[in-house]
Amino acid sequence: MTNTTMDDLISLCKRRGFIFPSSDIYGGLQGVYDFGPLGVELKNNLKSAWWRSTVYERDDVEGLDAAILTNPITLRHSGHETTFTDPLIDCRSCKTRHRADHLKTKKCPSCGSSDLTEARDFNLMFKTAVGPIDDGSSFAYLRPETAQAIFTNFKHVVDSTARRLPFGIAQMGKAFRNEITPRNFIFRVREFEQMELEFFVRPGQDEEWHQKWIDTRLAWWERQGVSRHNIELYNVPKEELAHYSKATVDLMYRFPHGLEELEGIANRTDFDLGSHTKAQSDFDIHSETIPNKDSNTKLAIQDIENDNRWIIPYVIEPSAGVERAILAILNEAYRVENLDDNKSRIVLALKPHLSPIKAAILPLKRNNEEIVRKALEIKRELQMLGIGRMLYEDTGNIGKGYRRHDEIGTPICITVDFETIDTDDTVTVRDRDSMAQRRMKTAELPDFLKDFYR
Ligand code: GAP
Repeated sequence: MTNTTMDDLISLCKRRGFIFPSSDIYGGLQGVYDFGPLGVELKNNLKSAWWRSTVYERDDVEGLDAAILTNPITLRHSGHETTFTDPLIDCRSCKTRHRADHLKTKKCPSCGSSDLTEARDFNLMFKTAVGPIDDGSSFAYLRPETAQAIFTNFKHVVDSTARRLPFGIAQMGKAFRNEITPRNFIFRVREFEQMELEFFVRPGQDEEWHQKWIDTRLAWWERQGVSRHNIELYNVPKEELAHYSKATVDLMYRFPHGLEELEGIANRTDFDLGSHTKAQSDFDIHSETIPNKDSNTKLAIQDIENDNRWIIPYVIEPSAGVERAILAILNEAYRVENLDDNKSRIVLALKPHLSPIKAAILPLKRNNEEIVRKALEIKRELQMLGIGRMLYEDTGNIGKGYRRHDEIGTPICITVDFETIDTDDTVTVRDRDSMAQRRMKTAELPDFLKDFYR
């Protein structure tokens, strides 16, 4: 267990350039955040780690990057127009709005008044006008989940890749929800990113695949530094299941503000491909025409092992939020260590593949031309390795540089000094976690780093 507070993380994120409140100079925009110079690197590294393990390291998953603007008909047939709601209540006294299912008592959490309205359904989807005339007749939704475009592109992907069951389609990207009460820093926001996989299987094999994906995802989180001890599995009870789900297991993480959902792994059955095809009425899957009059495509696949009969696959969906992942990863990595000399240091013990800066190259003296030139040359050479961002930084105070890089999670610092120039072309290589330092020939640096980040 960690006793890091949300304030520790918010402060680090702002101070060091991971995450800023959006539109901050104008007072911000509630539930919206911007990723700064280090945040963008961390986010990209995390998304790459997900893509690598979900797409590249498997032989049964394709990728997709679909549009955010979504035809309303898609979200009508998916059920989002009618069911993607949260219960909203208003406080008649102080005019604040709250989620009814988040209230602990029948009193307003802002002013304590009991003068509350009845709960009513509030749809969470954002709408935007399409085209130059904003008369309400031509609009699109900003997608509330990336999943729907995976379903609507199902036939395109099958036809262009000749995939057979089981196989998956993965997508990472923005999703938008007009949350009634965004809160807890980047935990519940209105604009966020999802990493979603829709894994299509034969009906009847869905439960087995559901369990496989729960195990696969748990192992992935551990590789990102999220301890298994801080995750609990929650079997979502029937009455709480989303409209498309037969069974959902949520991975609940011990965030600084409490145990909450990090990722949901749902068995969506044939609900989505089915409803885009048959408009939720029974129909003959083998017929040429499809009952969904809005659609021109049957979202089904032919079973070559069974007389080419059509089947609508079942879907297992692991769906994780990037912002929640970053919050969990920062929470796991953040620690304050006491040092021998009555001092302490903040260390962000990120897994090296996630660290925003892979190595910092520090010249001992910023006004020594030769040292600076050598440090820049090393930086340029190491940057070419394709490992990630290398940072040349000439603040001139090596001790402070080490502390700063501990705090932002840089695993390796490389210091260029007089010995490098005058004596033996060696540099000091310092390890973030052990703080151990050793001399190394500059020529050995590329292999050392390649090995370190393998
Ligand atoms: N396609 C399925 C789906 O969207 P969900 O449980 O509503 O399921 C999946 O969302 C994940 O997206 C959640 O586990 C969470 O990590 C993330 N997420 C959902 N709403 C969010 C919000 N308002 N802010 C940040 N992340 C959110």
